[in-house]
Amino acid sequence: MKVLAIPASNSHKSINKQLINYATSLMPQHDVEVIDINDYEMPIYSSDLEEAYGIPEAASSFFYKIQQADALLISYAEHNGNYTVAYKNLFDWATRVNMKVYQGKPIIMLATSPGPGGAKSVLALASGSAHFFDGQVKASLSIPSFYENFDQDSRTITNPEMNAKLQAALAVLELN
Ligand SMILES: Cc1cc2nc3c(=O)[nH]c(=O)nc-3n(C[C@H](O)[C@H](O)[C@H](O)COP(=O)(O)O)c2cc1C
Repeated sequence: MKVLAIPASNSHKSINKQLINYATSLMPQHDVEVIDINDYEMPIYSSDLEEAYGIPEAASSFFYKIQQADALLISYAEHNGNYTVAYKNLFDWATRVNMKVYQGKPIIMLATSPGPGGAKSVLALASGSAHFFDGQVKASLSIPSFYENFDQDSRTITNPEMNAKLQAALAVLELN
């Protein structure tokens, strides 16, 4: 399967990007592409801008990137219980191309944060609303206390229970 992996953070040190990189290393049987949402930077969405200049090219390229994939793997960073502004902005612009941003694709949703909450709020928000955007959430997993469960040197999840949960979440793609 062609899997598009999206760390939903614009931080260059993003722990969600680290999690995505580790998760994708566990999927050698798939053709995986990890994107950087910084490559899709756009002005903050405004209906005035849209009326004046239309939808930026980056929104269409993001939409078509999803179209070319068989499945999506997204890891959400949480800011104040919500999406990062960077991802929300990209997503909002993409919905102006077509509201069905996820285009019926199966999605595995991950989220992590340094705290014990593990970005559960944004994960619930993303998984609970995916159907409005024609996304089929096949699995979702929050990894709490990132720095306690992920070893920075080996770049792997060291907690066996978390590893098993991650493997199980990723394995749902084999059922498609
Ligand atoms: C403005 C701001 C708000 C945050 N709010 C939350 C939050 O609501 N829940 C949480 O678990 N972590 C929160 N954090 C901490 C982030 O989880 C942490 O910065 C994490 O590294 C973000 O993921 P990333 O590294 O993939 O960008 C917040 C951080 C910032 C800067």
